[in-house]
Order: sequence, then structure tokens, then C-alpha cells
Amino acid sequence: MMGDEKKLYIKTYGCQMNVYDSERMAEAMGAQGYVSTDTPEDADMILLNTCHIREKAAEKVYSELGRFKGLKAARPDLKIGVAGCVAQAEGEEIMRRQPLVDLVVGPQSYHRLPTLEARARQGERAIDTDFPEEDKFEVLKTRPKAARGPTAFLTVQEGCDKFCAFCVVPYTRGAEVSRPVARILAEARDLVERGVREITLLGQNVNAYHGAGPDGDWGLARLIWALNDVDGLERIRFTTSHPNDMDDALIAAHGECEKLMPYLHLPVQSGSDRILKRMNRSHTAEQYLRLIERIRQARPDILMSGDFIVGFPEESDQDFEDTMELVRAVNYGQAFSFKYSTRPGTPAAERALVDPAVADARLQRLQALITQQQRAIQDSMVGRDVQVLFEKPGRLPGQMVGKSQYLHAVHVTGGSPKVGEIHRVRIVESGPNSLAGQLLA
Ligand code: 5AD
Ligand code: SF4
Repeated sequence: MMGDEKKLYIKTYGCQMNVYDSERMAEAMGAQGYVSTDTPEDADMILLNTCHIREKAAEKVYSELGRFKGLKAARPDLKIGVAGCVAQAEGEEIMRRQPLVDLVVGPQSYHRLPTLEARARQGERAIDTDFPEEDKFEVLKTRPKAARGPTAFLTVQEGCDKFCAFCVVPYTRGAEVSRPVARILAEARDLVERGVREITLLGQNVNAYHGAGPDGDWGLARLIWALNDVDGLERIRFTTSHPNDMDDALIAAHGECEKLMPYLHLPVQSGSDRILKRMNRSHTAEQYLRLIERIRQARPDILMSGDFIVGFPEESDQDFEDTMELVRAVNYGQAFSFKYSTRPGTPAAERALVDPAVADARLQRLQALITQQQRAIQDSMVGRDVQVLFEKPGRLPGQMVGKSQYLHAVHVTGGSPKVGEIHRVRIVESGPNSLAGQLLA
């Protein structure tokens, strides 16, 4: 029987939703006799789950595909597929530009992957970038009850109707769609049975969630409260949120819902009202700051995270200084900043670019400020007690690694905590990327 087993290698780029999707695709192909492998060299099928959010991501995919040329020449039976948002945005072009590719599948069609693979085995170059009617999550429902690590992603919402002027997501992932409450709760219970203690709810616009519940539409806060009642689940997180969808119930949940962790990723993109308007963000810097004030009133110790774009078309020195000012006002525990890159087909693609050297210099300044804030907040944990969910052994003998409620990585040596357990830990040291602590209880 073992001889019939085929091997699947998936490389995942980009966001956490792609990580979730890759797991689902591996499960779908598992039902076709595929087992996962970490090495492309012994795979029967290679799948790149791609990201289109910024320019370099797509270029990386093409260069990665080029590298499989030798493998394919040595083993003509090897099938190569491209999934994800680059597949959605430029599937036809991938087929034209890279003859090695046997199949292309967009994010809404993953449940059709086994069919596409079968067509590719027949020698066809198969492409599916539809937005089909059927619910891919239902078709992809997890079959084998394999044990898994203590943390998991769970997609609750997909797509985005916001149309920020720079962003491809509304085009590649489509319009906002929320999964029904019952299915999410069933998937959560299933994950908990398999050893999961922390679930991160995923959506491109997760706090716009409005799924069908037993008594009408539920918002994200209600869903979180229902998950709070799931025995064995200890921690709930969600990402990524839009400031305009932070409703009162969700803000209040941060103060009241015991399993909801004190960490919030809330991208603002810019601190300049002029640029926010051009970005079509439909909120001002002041509104964002006031929102954070309210969130901190509900949960004073919450750690804020964000995303920024610098060098958006027509960003002036003053606009950029406004961004720096906003960052100083918020004090981020974590933040991601990117140089604007033109995405074909988006409204901003028509506009004049900022001088790249200027944009680079701004990015450096912003990143230096963010790093300084991150480090200061991380360093301020020294001497404090945090709760750590242990995820895996560390690199040193006897060492275990986990995450605090604030999502800081924490190393502990001694006391032998087990994977999946949550313990109180006193932080004794702050390193470049993680904290070190001693087990208390
Ligand atoms: N250029 C640069 N950064 C972008 N992002 C989205 N689109 C672009 C773009 N065209 C960033 C935003 C978003 C994050 C996921 O990626 O900050 O929040
Ligand atoms: Fe893109 Fe987020 Fe804006 Fe939606 S809200 S268009 S996903 S940046």
C-alpha cells in the first residue's frame, strides 16, 4: 500500500489565511492518497500557495517556479500547481509565462483541487479561477481526526468590500462572505478535540463578520462569546480588523470576555487624513486614535499592532510626519510597514509615484521608530508575570517555547511544561525577538 502513496509539497506565501488554506488543500489531497512532504525533491506534486499583496511576492513565485525546472526534467510525472492570489490575479499569464505549470487554482476553488489534479494527470493544463456557488469549506471539511499542535487558524470570513485604493484583496479574494455560526463552532470543537487550545479567527476583514446564526445574523463579538463557552478552548484571537468595523460589542468583549487575548491587529496604513482619503480608508487619523482610546479603556493592557504603507502616491513630507506622529501617539507593541507597490488594476495604480529613494528613507525612519516601540514594550515585560501557552521544544536542551497572552514568544528552561499547557511565567530577560522566563505555576 505504501508504494501507492504520493507526496505533496506545499510552499505557502503571505498571510495566515494562506496557511489555513494550505492545510485544507493538504487535507483534500490527503483523501486522494497524498501525504505531505517537506522536500520538493521527493514530491509527486508541488503546490505554491501564493500572495499578490505586494510586487516582490509575485516575482518570488516566478523565480521559485524556475528552480523546479531540473526536478521536472528528471521526473516528468511531477505535477506543479500554483494556488492563491497570484493564481487568481494572473492565472492565464502564469500558464503562458511558465510552461512548467500544470494547474492553476484560485482561492475560491480549492475544493476542486483533486479534480484539477486528475485532469493534470491526464496531460491537460488545468485552470480554475472561478468564484463558484458551492461552499468550499463544506466540501473541504476535515476528514481524518489527526492530532495537531495547540494553536490553529480558523477562517470565519473571507473577501473584502472596502476597496482601499492600493489593495488587490477585493479583486483576488472577492466580496465579503461570512461562514455560518454553526459550522464555525463545529470546526472549533473539532479542533479542541484534536488538542487545540488557542484559535485565531481569520478573515481579510474579520470584524466585518456577519454570519448566519440560529436567530439571525451574528457579529464577531457574539461569535467570540459563543467560542468563549467551548470547553477546552483557552484562548481566542482574531485578525485582520478594519477600524470602521470595531463596534461597541467587540470593544466591550476585549474587557469582558476572559478567553479573548489582549492583542489587537488594527491596521491604519497612514497618519495623514489627506492620504487616508486618497487611500479610500473612510476614517481619519483622529477617529483611529479615539477608537484605540476606547479599546484601551476596555482593556488597558492591550497590545496594539498595525500595518503602514509609506510612499503612497503623492505622500508629502508632511503626510509622512503625520504618520510618525500617529505612531508615537499609539505606541505599538508590534507593527508592519511596507513601501507602497503598484498593484495593476487598483485605483492607485494610475497615480504618480513618490521618488523611490524618498520612500526608502521614510520606510527606514518608520521602521526604526516601530522597532524602538516594540523593544520598549517587550523590555517592559521583564519582572512581570505572564501566562504562556507552550507550543514546542526550544533549540536548547530542556527548553520550551510558547506565547504569552500578548503574543510575545517566551522561552522557558526547566520545570518541564508540556506542549498545550498554560503556565504562569515570570519574565526575566528580553532578547531581540523573544522573552525568557521562569516557570511559576
Ligand atoms: N503596497 C504596499 N503595501 C500594501 N499592503 C496592501 N497593499 C499594498 C500595496 N499595494 C499592505 C497593507 C495591508 C498589508 C497586509 O499589506 O498595509 O494592511
Ligand atoms: Fe485591502 Fe484590508 Fe483595505 Fe480590504 S480593508 S481593501 S483587505 S487593505
